[in-house]
Amino acid sequence: MRDVIDRVWSMLSAGANAAATRSPFTMLQAATVGLDGGPKVRTIVLRGVSPEAGSLIFHTDVRSEKVLELGKDPRISLLGCDLDAGIQIRLEGVARMVDSLEERMALWKLSRPHSLIVYRAQLAPGTPIASPEEAHTAPGNTPDSMAGFENFCLVTVDVQKIDYLDLSPNRHARAKFCRQDGAWHGGWVTP
Ligand SMILES: Cc1cc2nc3c(=O)[nH]c(=O)nc-3n(C[C@H](O)[C@H](O)[C@H](O)COP(=O)(O)O)c2cc1C
Repeated sequence: MRDVIDRVWSMLSAGANAAATRSPFTMLQAATVGLDGGPKVRTIVLRGVSPEAGSLIFHTDVRSEKVLELGKDPRISLLGCDLDAGIQIRLEGVARMVDSLEERMALWKLSRPHSLIVYRAQLAPGTPIASPEEAHTAPGNTPDSMAGFENFCLVTVDVQKIDYLDLSPNRHARAKFCRQDGAWHGGWVTP
């Protein structure tokens, strides 16, 4: 089953390498347990993966609702789909906010300027406004390169379960894995 696990991480690694080429796994849907106890799902950009550690990373605004939700219940589920290949990857894991200033700073500096604009917004995500324009940062001088850094949050997900589904025309196959003591265990299941 090692080749299936390697394939999953290779597809996720390609997704996280969007600076080179965007792949079907660059955007994932991330589901959390809402503050009201119900499921909440949204799109995130996969920013990094570590196949060895079985973890991945995404960026978000520390003021967003998902950060509050994950603070209360760190369980998270992520889903990606390659519609052309007929491959679905479902992940379950536990999220942690990265505290290290050095790590946050390094990824902030590696990010493209346009992807950091959202962190400079005066109002927290989800704040009611009279019109969309009200959310835009006021035009003016070129912002300080660190403006908004205080809102920049790195979320690492330690993946604990993988559900891989291949519904390509010649091959209907599904495999489930879970991580124990740093190794993946699992096998085929019926699709
Ligand atoms: C293409 C696309 C990519 C997105 N990438 C991210 C992302 O990487 N991080 C993020 O926090 N929100 C991202 N969003 C916005 C989220 O889907 C969501 O609307 C926002 O984070 C607020 O979610 P929340 O209220 O559940 O925290 C993206 C949205 C789209 C459409």
